[in-house]
Parts: sequence; structure tokens; C-alpha cells
Amino acid sequence: MAQIWTNFIKNGWCFLDNGIENYRWIEATKANIRNKFRQKEYKDSDFRSGSTWFAGINFLDNEIGGDVDGISFSSALWSQISGKFGVGIKYWDTAQVSICWKGYPRKDRSESEKAFKYRLKKYSSHVDGLIPIGSSRKRFAKEFHAFILGIPIINNRVDSAPLMVWEGSHKIFRNMFRKVYAGLSETEISNLDVTEIYQKYRRKVFSTCPVRKVFSHNNQPYILDRHLLHGIESWSVPIGDPLLPHRDKLFCINPMSGRIVVYFRPAYKNPLDWITQN
Ligand SMILES: [Fe+2]
Repeated sequence: MAQIWTNFIKNGWCFLDNGIENYRWIEATKANIRNKFRQKEYKDSDFRSGSTWFAGINFLDNEIGGDVDGISFSSALWSQISGKFGVGIKYWDTAQVSICWKGYPRKDRSESEKAFKYRLKKYSSHVDGLIPIGSSRKRFAKEFHAFILGIPIINNRVDSAPLMVWEGSHKIFRNMFRKVYAGLSETEISNLDVTEIYQKYRRKVFSTCPVRKVFSHNNQPYILDRHLLHGIESWSVPIGDPLLPHRDKLFCINPMSGRIVVYFRPAYKNPLDWITQN
């Protein structure tokens, strides 16, 4: 257990132990996702990157304790997280259901060339909670998560649009946030445009931190530091393997043909913990 958190502190992420009981939660989650797609309970705006990615923000029907259809996380997973974060978090948020399909990403008409190039070369890497606002996409801290918990659901492989993390980047950004937000209230923090300094520190991360793929074949969950820079790699298609017709809604609405990861981002009770906690 101690080794897990040593890796988390050093690299900014680690795998968690997976209790066998967690498979019950995963099966309940699959059933919920299948059912919601069958009932068309999704927003068209959640289909992005030429319908090769379903962003699925707040899509899962989980309870505030994280349970789905009465099935809770395994006690192993539960005790690891509560042992580390205790009572500091408010409640389990409504989870994101991120689904990528073969051929991710295609360029959206609304996406600039520059943004698409950044998606291909740097995986659209970002720090969660720093939200781009308006047409100028200036960045402001608006969400104060304690951590990001990823639970792989299906088709998680090395080539199927894995999560990419910049190891050690959480320390660089934590230092930056402590400097720029020193002495500010929550309101002042969320109204401060940090675009320029964020981009400057992001360049520093790209030139100094190693990048690593995170995926697991056996649904093993992983946890990311709240300040870790991360993104999604392309779903590489082997030569001679034709792209599937992503624009065909019939293809897109089969969620189980994609790579699914569920992400929880519980918020801190005290938003300033986002800056001060180690
Ligand atoms: Fe993210």
C-alpha cells in the first residue's frame, strides 16, 4: 500500500489494487451505459472529433457514494481512496464516460488546424479544472478536484486511444499554482486568467517530463494527481486496416465497440485545498 502512494507522489499517478468484487460494479456500469445508449439518453454535442469520441461528461447514473444500480465499489478500492483522502472530499460526482472508437481523432469542423495538430502531437494534453472560456479560450481555474480516478471498462489496450500522462508534471504545476494564487480567495482565483503562465509551464513540462501510456487489460483502476498534465493518444489503425465509418451513427451508438473509461473527479470540500494540499 505504501509503495502505491510513493509512486503517486513521485510520478503523479499509480495503479490501485483491484478487488475481485469490483467486477460487479463494472458489469452494472456496462449495463447502465448500454441502456442509456439504447434509450438515446445522450447529447449530440458529446460526440466530438468527427464522432470518434464520446466525451460523456456527467453521463453515468451513479449515486453520491459511487455505486451504480445498488452495486458499490470493491472494499479494496474504497479503503485505498478513503485512507488517502479521508473526509476531505464532498461526494462522488456524476462520472464521465469517455468512449473512443477506432480512428480517433478525426478533425471536427469547429476545431482549428492548430488545435487538431495539438491533439495529434500532444494528445490535447491539459490540467483538469483549468477551463477554457469563450472564443479566446482563456483559461481559468473553475473546478477544484481532489483527484482523478479512472476505471477502465472495456477494450483498453496499448493502441486503443490510451491515456497519456506527463510524469512529474504535477509538481511543476503545483508550484506554479501556489505562486500565482498566493493569498487569493476562491472567487479571485477563479476570475484570474492564467492562460499565459499555464502555457509557459506546459512547454516546460513537454521539454522536461517523460510521457507515459496508461491502460490496463484487466480493469485495474488508476488514480491521477489533480495537477497532472494528461491527454488521449490517437487510436492507431494498422496499414491495410480500413477505417470504420465513424460518421455512421449506427456505428457510433454501439458503445461496447469502443474503448471505455469511467472517470470520477470528486471535489474538495474546501476549494483552497486544491492549491495547498500536497
Ligand atoms: Fe482531463
